[in-house]
Amino acid sequence: MENKWWKNKVVYQIYPQSFYDYQNNGIGNLKGIIQKLDYLKKLGIEMVWISSFYKSPMVDNGYDVSDYYAINSQYGSIADFEDLINEAKKRNIHILLDLVVNHCSDQHEWFQKALKDPLGFYGDYFIIKKGTGSRPPNNWRGIFGGSVWEPIEGTDLYYYHTFTKEQPDLNWENKNLRNEIYKIINFWLEKGIAGFRLDAISFIKKNPSYESFNADRPDGLVALRTVSINYPGIEVFLKELKEKTFDRFNAFTVAEMSALKPESFSKFIGNEGLFTSVFDFGFMNADLKNSTLWYKHNSFSALDVALPLFKSQEAAQQCDGSLAIALENHDQPRSLNKWFGSTTFSFEQAAFLAVLNLSLRGIPFLFQGQEIGMTNVDWDTVSEIRDAKSLSQYEQAITDGIDPREAFKAIAYRSRDNARSPMQWNDQPYAGFSKNMPWTKVNSNYQSINVQKQESDPDSLLSFYKALIQLRCKSKYSRVFTEGSLVQIFKDKQNLIAFERIYQTQKIHVLLNYSNNDEKIVCDKKPFYVLGNYRSMLYEKDILRLRPFEALIFEVF
Ligand code: GLC
Repeated sequence: MENKWWKNKVVYQIYPQSFYDYQNNGIGNLKGIIQKLDYLKKLGIEMVWISSFYKSPMVDNGYDVSDYYAINSQYGSIADFEDLINEAKKRNIHILLDLVVNHCSDQHEWFQKALKDPLGFYGDYFIIKKGTGSRPPNNWRGIFGGSVWEPIEGTDLYYYHTFTKEQPDLNWENKNLRNEIYKIINFWLEKGIAGFRLDAISFIKKNPSYESFNADRPDGLVALRTVSINYPGIEVFLKELKEKTFDRFNAFTVAEMSALKPESFSKFIGNEGLFTSVFDFGFMNADLKNSTLWYKHNSFSALDVALPLFKSQEAAQQCDGSLAIALENHDQPRSLNKWFGSTTFSFEQAAFLAVLNLSLRGIPFLFQGQEIGMTNVDWDTVSEIRDAKSLSQYEQAITDGIDPREAFKAIAYRSRDNARSPMQWNDQPYAGFSKNMPWTKVNSNYQSINVQKQESDPDSLLSFYKALIQLRCKSKYSRVFTEGSLVQIFKDKQNLIAFERIYQTQKIHVLLNYSNNDEKIVCDKKPFYVLGNYRSMLYEKDILRLRPFEALIFEVF
């Protein structure tokens, strides 16, 4: 097999709970995924990442795993999974699974044993420390808010959790634990999967001082993101992990490594890097503007995107590494709402995002529903929200004195549940996702935004995505998109995100006008139109005119 077998593939992320319910109990399942493989194939997808589907009490929707060798029965059985692998292979689709090994569930037998004997064999699989007086061992704040420490009843000990208290962190310093993890990974690789997305991998190495730092908020705590993330020494764990598992299968890995600086890319994704790829979160989170106040919604400019985007593109290129390019995932609001901030969107706006997602250097990742322009959900009340993180953020906002209506507005925009609403397949009840009431709210716009409607329309967003994927993966321009270099162009144009892709003698320009105004560019040679969201190009007398939110791909000779 070619070493970089993954380089010309587009990945599609499936959130299994919300993709397709073939058994009609209101929850998506593996049989449902099998039913839709032909849909993915037609779209041009050759690799699918399935979000965590292991046995789990579902406190964090499956990212709290209680048995790594079993599949949550709501999704199906191991036999269904084997069918899925076979059916996917027939269609030349590779499967990636989620690997959630920074933490497990408090219902995992390791943790249950640890609770019974915190200082014993299984106690050391976790991070357990004595408090100071009646206080936790330090003042670190977890990702979902509150202390990272939870008392162990009947003792003066606490255990550590980066996320909810039902997700105790695993102690990677323990060799037995590490070997257990390698066994799990190899078990799934032997079943024929192509690789993994590595969940929350930034947190596996803890700052060994475990000391308290100056508080950054009135709660007296300090964010984990500033004291114990991507901590030096993590590469030692990652190297061993790679050698004992992924290397043996030439597997594809993509890391969720937030806050990774472009300066460090060579270590993590270079030719001798620790992963195949890492998500580029810098530009994905442009709306957060580095603020820790998640409930502040910021609009952003082309410049806010271009600065981090081209910095990371350049760094990845320098070390011959591949970034994973995503605008959406199961933890993000829908990209249309993020980028265009209203409630209804034009074809041009949605297709603008498609061009951005599919023409950069790296591996494009699409999230289910993005290809038909699914949007944030029209939430009515907080009680409709299922996501543990959103609920804890909502409480935090109220504690911080935010008006409940404002807090709800913020949640309604940023909640991860926006990405998790059922996939809109047709205009039938429950959007054709299930015949039974789905586990979470269906977006009320399903009658106008759905797959069936777009499949038969050559001018739909879905058809545009197909054309773009075809252009990137199976056209005379494939190598320029999948292997070509990238340079930012027209840097002086504040409203443009623009770049040149070059492979041997082929040269492509991609221009994205992220503004409501026209933008004029001097081009002395007539560009050769390839694809665009206006389906045409306005070029006259050496001037190329880009219309509002125009995204244009052309060849330059
Ligand atoms: C990752 C997942 C997210 C989950 C968290 C804890 O960030 O993407 O959904 O809540 O890890 O596992």
